[in-house]
Amino acid sequence: MHVHLREPGREDEETVETGCNAAAAGGFTGVACMPNTNPDIDSAEVVRFIKEKAAKHLVDVYPVAAATLARKGEAISPMLELYEAGAVGFSDDGVAIKSAGILRNVLEYSKMIDAPVIEHCEDESLAGGAMNESFTSTILGLPGIPNVAEDLIVIRDIMMAEFTDGRVHIAHISSKNAVDLVRQAKKKGIKVTAEVAPHHFTLTDDMLKTFDTNYKMNPPLRTRDDVDAMIEGLKDGTIDCIASDHAPHSIEEKEMEFIYAPNGILGLETQIGLAISELVKKKHLTLEQLVEKFAVNPRRILKLPVPKIQVGEHANFTIFDPELIWTVEAAKFKSKSKNAPYDKRLLTGKAVAVINKKKMFVDDKMMEI
Ligand code: DOR
Repeated sequence: MHVHLREPGREDEETVETGCNAAAAGGFTGVACMPNTNPDIDSAEVVRFIKEKAAKHLVDVYPVAAATLARKGEAISPMLELYEAGAVGFSDDGVAIKSAGILRNVLEYSKMIDAPVIEHCEDESLAGGAMNESFTSTILGLPGIPNVAEDLIVIRDIMMAEFTDGRVHIAHISSKNAVDLVRQAKKKGIKVTAEVAPHHFTLTDDMLKTFDTNYKMNPPLRTRDDVDAMIEGLKDGTIDCIASDHAPHSIEEKEMEFIYAPNGILGLETQIGLAISELVKKKHLTLEQLVEKFAVNPRRILKLPVPKIQVGEHANFTIFDPELIWTVEAAKFKSKSKNAPYDKRLLTGKAVAVINKKKMFVDDKMMEI
């Protein structure tokens, strides 16, 4: 539902091909990639370029186009043209759509094609910190981003979805109140859905005490209360999807001082293991619910066909072993980058093979079948 493939522009960090390899190794036959590339995915040419790069790969790539030109929040992108070229949703990810007025227009246009507006919820005037604003940020002397920065945009977007009858999808939700706002909005029948990244239901801002920049991302790691709210939201259906927010960054950039290092961590190759270990083994979700959050709900939200295992259908599925115990080894990741906080962590549950487009990835090998 949410990955960064970095091509075009930062092929030193990831390419469509290496990102797809990471997806296949992690157990995914499809990914929706975010528009904060260079140039941004705000023209039909860039949408087509990415689709062409992925055409021969086992993994289907679905570009999410920028909602506004260069994600600047000033003029809306040529949304219908982008949709015709293959975009499945619209987002200014990295930042929120700047104003309610622009968001209104984006929602009106996306409604015509029933595509979701995928929002990075962060109020600009409260952004710019290096971690969650909390007791820990005070102790560490790092500038914080408060939960309310997220909550304000979530509430604005819910109100705009209600006003326009458009469809908003909250990306990488991380704050307790935000989950509650989505819960109330769903009860009122407003068209809002949400995703959570594995780090937001597995890690807290305590980890920042190590000053390891592999714990730096946006939204930032929050408190135990927030983590518990993510799990509760997943359990009661408030949070529809689990999405990696796979965000590759180069070693040189991640090794800068904490406040200068870029936000983001890898996720594609660890998320099934993390979700099985932390959600299924701890009895928060069943395996069936997990498959819905990873594979079914994202496709429904993006209006993509949900593959069926049935005679006459194209084979498109993942084989995973929910009992397999393995150790994360970032050095062996298929991703071009290595910025993962879970290196050397013991996980239960792993994808064994993926099959799609008459190709199979198994035992570290891609083969035609
Ligand atoms: O942690 C993040 N990384 N958050 C974002 O909003 C952007 C992303 C990236 O592109 O690296």
